[in-house]
Amino acid sequence: MDLLHYAPPANWMNDPNGLVFHNGRYHLFFQYNPEGADHANMSWGHASSPDLVRWEDHPVAIAFDADEDIFSGSVVADEEGTAGFGKGALLAFYTSHSKRAAHQAQSIAYSVDDGETWAKYEGNPVLDRGSSDFRDPKVVRYTGPGGPYWVLVAVEAIDQQVLFYRSDDLLTWTFLSAFGPEAAAGGIWECPDLFPLRVGDGDDVAWVLLVSTHPGGPAGGSATQYFVGDFDGVTFTPHVHRPPIGADDEGMRSLPWLDHGHDCYAGVTFSGLGIDDRILIAWMSNWLYAAELPVDPAAPQRGAMTMARRLSLVDDEGTLRLVQVGIVPDVAETATITAERIEGLVELPLTVPPVARIDLLVDLGGADGFALALGRDRQTCVELRYERATGRLLVDRSRGAEALPGAYSTQAEVTLGQRERVGLTIWLDAKGIEVFADGGRSVITDLTPSPPFPHAWLKGVGGAVIVEKLTVSG
Ligand code: FRU
Repeated sequence: MDLLHYAPPANWMNDPNGLVFHNGRYHLFFQYNPEGADHANMSWGHASSPDLVRWEDHPVAIAFDADEDIFSGSVVADEEGTAGFGKGALLAFYTSHSKRAAHQAQSIAYSVDDGETWAKYEGNPVLDRGSSDFRDPKVVRYTGPGGPYWVLVAVEAIDQQVLFYRSDDLLTWTFLSAFGPEAAAGGIWECPDLFPLRVGDGDDVAWVLLVSTHPGGPAGGSATQYFVGDFDGVTFTPHVHRPPIGADDEGMRSLPWLDHGHDCYAGVTFSGLGIDDRILIAWMSNWLYAAELPVDPAAPQRGAMTMARRLSLVDDEGTLRLVQVGIVPDVAETATITAERIEGLVELPLTVPPVARIDLLVDLGGADGFALALGRDRQTCVELRYERATGRLLVDRSRGAEALPGAYSTQAEVTLGQRERVGLTIWLDAKGIEVFADGGRSVITDLTPSPPFPHAWLKGVGGAVIVEKLTVSG
């Protein structure tokens, strides 16, 4: 069973929308085409879960019609009923993408049965600036000095700006400020999110602004950058101002990226949880090739979600960095290797289960690096490599991907720095691989072309390495 990466039983899916924890369940809405496996007829699909691992599918929540597609957005619970839809009503903020004109504005749908059925608000749109590319509203409750009130963040996609608005009743919105362009500006900006996070275990809190951008990501195409800073209820100020840089600029790869892989886009977090429960899900694909990926003819389907991940902030010598930990199914250990010296290429004496976790700790000894390959055979595998000289961790899924779009075959990489010992936690299933390095500070998520991955090979490059510990679970 595919437990790591949610996908609907059929049809097209892209961004997660309206992530909300309400009455003990996690709700995942998503960009969905009820009529096919292409990006069209955008509606909000719906699944829910008690634990972010076992998902139950629900009917389409908000459907496209002759006038509009239902683009991305968010959900909040209006516990006080201030918007007039009743106490505890769920309010979905989505982008009305006009089918008749180049026009996008923010609209509301509401649900009084815990997200099962939705009605559009008659006063839509609630926020319209006459723009063709104003979208992806994320509504959050601001409770800091001067609050509480509601804040809506949305993008002017082409201007590479995040706009902030304020409301007391969730219906009337007034402009607060704009942020951007800054840092990764090689493409349009999409799907912003804004939230406070505790720094380490202390009392200090910093604000994180997520901005997805396409193209211009570190592996090419789509990716999500993050800014850490302060939000005073009006303005977001990053701790470090970075000038806007394009996709080809040196330094682009070393920006703070949520994920350095090809396939982690439009990631946003759940509302309805406390400050220490900031949980993100992203779309596991890339606009470079999402529409060209093969579909299973039995159930034409394209698109999956990343695993849910819990976010926290650590202070690394004055720099606040996001740390991600997967929220994952219970798995049991199936194989362990300890204190094994590996010289040259060795096939490991184990079988990787179809849904697997691999924990690996390698001591480089005198070697230049190591490679771990997972796959059916040496021609059809995903290879992870660490190079001591450059400090890079690479994920190469090009073998066995010959039939897939060209952009699919590039490598993903992240610079970890020069290390004597490298520890990785790897999750994989039939859809893809998620590699967490440096305790979750660096992540690479990639769709993978040719599952399953029953075999594993390890290679010491330029010398022998010591596998201090390798554990496989499934
Ligand atoms: C991001 C995005 C959003 C938009 C949605 C349309 O992947 O382009 O900006 O609302 O997808 O499906």
